[in-house]
Amino acid sequence: MNSCGGVVHPRSLPPGRPAHVLAAAAGSLGDQLPEHGIGQEQALRRLADVLETYGVGLRSPYSAAHLQPPPLAVAVLADALASASNASLDTYDSGPAAIAVERWVVARLATLAGYPSGDGVFTPGGTISNLTALLLARDAAAARHGVDVRLDGVAELVEPTVYCSELAHFSVQRACATLGIGENAVRPIEVDSSFRMEPSSLARALRHASTPVAVVATAGTTDFGSIDPLREVAEIAAAHGAWFHVDAAYGFGALFSTRLAPLLDGLELADSITADLHKIGWQPAAASALLVRSAAAFEPLNRSVAYLNPEDDRTAGYDGLLGRSLQTTRRPDAVKVAATLLAFGREGLGQLVDHCHSLAQHAAALLAEDPAFELIGGVTLTTVVFRYTASDPELTDAVNAELRRHLMRTGVALVGRTEVGKATCLKFTLLNPKTTPDDLVRLLGLVRHAGAVTEEMLRQEGVA
Ligand SMILES: Cc1ncc(COP(=O)(O)O)c(C=O)c1O
Repeated sequence: MNSCGGVVHPRSLPPGRPAHVLAAAAGSLGDQLPEHGIGQEQALRRLADVLETYGVGLRSPYSAAHLQPPPLAVAVLADALASASNASLDTYDSGPAAIAVERWVVARLATLAGYPSGDGVFTPGGTISNLTALLLARDAAAARHGVDVRLDGVAELVEPTVYCSELAHFSVQRACATLGIGENAVRPIEVDSSFRMEPSSLARALRHASTPVAVVATAGTTDFGSIDPLREVAEIAAAHGAWFHVDAAYGFGALFSTRLAPLLDGLELADSITADLHKIGWQPAAASALLVRSAAAFEPLNRSVAYLNPEDDRTAGYDGLLGRSLQTTRRPDAVKVAATLLAFGREGLGQLVDHCHSLAQHAAALLAEDPAFELIGGVTLTTVVFRYTASDPELTDAVNAELRRHLMRTGVALVGRTEVGKATCLKFTLLNPKTTPDDLVRLLGLVRHAGAVTEEMLRQEGVA
């Protein structure tokens, strides 16, 4: 427990240095595979204790580092139901209910995205949704050039390129490496002062492209929550025959909010969309959906496998969702999302989104008026980027980096870290709907105090 200003909250992290924490957590499980078990109840108690004592405390309002919300109870319980069923999505006979639930959730999310006949598939995270989208894009581009990538690989593709803003998630680069077109295929496009892709730079970059595979817009950059101008980017992508993917891993949940939904204007023009409900959506990971404008987009992933879904079974209606995923066995992550949509409805989830958005605006206002901090950029969704201003400017980068580690070592708070230009910055990612404006005042106090302690420590160590 963690007491701050008379208010008691669970810790954000276990106190101590990482090596000690990890050793103590593993040590409490013993150092051998037990010959004789301790029984289910004792085993569960032991694990609950390990997770509670050494885990991350996402319920603390001072845990504000990552796009990792405290999950909703209804989603956690529904996820246990899903695990208990051990259904799989690949074939009809592996779990018909799970298939129906995923189809239901995908249809609801597609409608929200503005895809009247949209479709989709759940994946193990935004990284894999982006990878899958770029696989579809690569194969569509190859087909346009008469290349069968599935059989012949990518060697015959002439200079394939992918365009995204310089602030796009690194999973775009990773996907290109995985898909054989290489990280150098990615052309980073500059952003404007609001951290949104510059459409004129995109148009310029595309002018002489040989094989433009995809344009990836980000709806909710990881640090700033900024949303690329989707409509303009869509038009440029279409003019060059490039697949238009929107990585809305972070921003998709804004569609639940009447206040924020207009920010995603133009989303419906995408060929595919990544939507992570384990970010804005309050699901335990993973709950990522890759949405597509129509089911035909999945053709490159279509497979009939003798032991799973032979053609005659499929024709007779005994088919699963194998043909739209890189996975074979696939757990029913949509079950928890279905329970959440039913329990809260769009409006209920929208209220959670609005609360977190208001928190971010409040945090930005507090940071802007506090001389100990420099606010970097504005608020679009639920993140705020800032720096602690050390009295010796030479020390500012080192102090920001070390004060975050100091907070992690004490366990009282957890803030994010990033780089803007070459400057080390801090970040609040506010996804706890129970956090109050007063909590934010106390959180700022914790960061300010950690900054002062760290600055003094570095000065004494002679780092300056
Ligand atoms: C914009 C964006 N896209 C994709 C991802 C990757 O999502 P995941 O961590 O679920 O793989 C993230 C993660 O933060 C993200 O912020």
